[in-house]
Amino acid sequence: MSACYGVNPGDAGIEVPREWSGTAATPVTADTAFNGFVCTHVVFAFERLGVFARFAEAGSLDMTGFCAEHGLDDAVFRALVGAAESFGHVTVTGDRVLPTEHGEEVRRQLGFFTWAVGGYHDVFAAAAPIATGKRAFGSDVLRDEAMVALGSAQADTALMRHILDAEIAQVDFSVLADLGSGTCERLSRLVKDRPGARGIGLDISRSATELAARTVAGYGLRDRVEPVCADVRQVVAGELKPEGAAEVDAVMSFMFLHDLLADPSTRSRVIPEMREAFPNARTFLLADTTIRPRGAAERTLPMFSSGFELAHALMGVPLHTRQDYERLFVDAGLTIRRTVPFGAPHTYLFVLEA
Ligand SMILES: C[S@@+](CC[C@H](N)C(=O)[O-])C[C@H]1O[C@@H](n2cnc3c(N)ncnc32)[C@H](O)[C@@H]1O
Repeated sequence: MSACYGVNPGDAGIEVPREWSGTAATPVTADTAFNGFVCTHVVFAFERLGVFARFAEAGSLDMTGFCAEHGLDDAVFRALVGAAESFGHVTVTGDRVLPTEHGEEVRRQLGFFTWAVGGYHDVFAAAAPIATGKRAFGSDVLRDEAMVALGSAQADTALMRHILDAEIAQVDFSVLADLGSGTCERLSRLVKDRPGARGIGLDISRSATELAARTVAGYGLRDRVEPVCADVRQVVAGELKPEGAAEVDAVMSFMFLHDLLADPSTRSRVIPEMREAFPNARTFLLADTTIRPRGAAERTLPMFSSGFELAHALMGVPLHTRQDYERLFVDAGLTIRRTVPFGAPHTYLFVLEA
């Protein structure tokens, strides 16, 4: 994350990274828009093919060897590399491909591409039939939840992890619950770092829970972290009681709160009921992306916000401002210890105490 901070006038003195204003110039010209669309797909193809992983490991790759090793069609792979070269993300010398500075920056922000192209491709593509009512999200248009969870985990590793680590170091916990836990990457890492601690990860998606079981096994934590496929709305409403909920002394939830708060008729009850579902939880670490404050003089856009806001509008899930969240926490009797800018644009980590 950029070390460069500035005070956003809408943010009541909370210093937010300058990166949150973004560098994508608006109006977005027709050619930038078209090339951006193609470019996001090339980035996602590189992610799926392990190109970025190879760059991270070895700094470069040789096309002939890489295609042979992964069983790739040489002509197609070279076309992808050629496109990436046109976008300025790689340089090619003979058979060797190296990421440029911009390619490295894309790698750092890869989670957003996995999220957008891998997770929400079908939702964005169906915007017109969703608008006309011919198709509806949730029945005939779906997101790829495993890709959403993977993208979130990638963004966490690259952009958020160090911020959470600094906060969690100050929290005393023995059983940690993660609501909307995705791949359980974050939960596994935190439990691994805390001798004797245990974790419960709750996620509604079967595919994300399967990924989570693999993550937990990879960390060697099968006896200490349990991924559970469950609807957290039911847990919060008291209709479902996960084993061990009464022992949970810290609750965390990342990039999921807006889903829990989607129904306006239950919204004000969610945080109080969350406290009741985990009666011994003293600390709540809740993070989410908020509605981007609009300035009249806005000329640039950051990563993520436009996609996050549009995707949720297409899914009929309302989003909230930082102030909306803070009001809900205070109304639920929680004390806000800190509101910390959390890596991704317009995303905050709220450190709360019961
Ligand atoms: C954006 S992802 C975030 C994943 C993870 N917390 C992270 O930050 O990496 C949101 C997660 O919430 C899960 N989810 C959505 N609605 C849910 C519900 N009602 N109960 C449990 N999980 C839910 C999704 O399956 C998805 O894994």
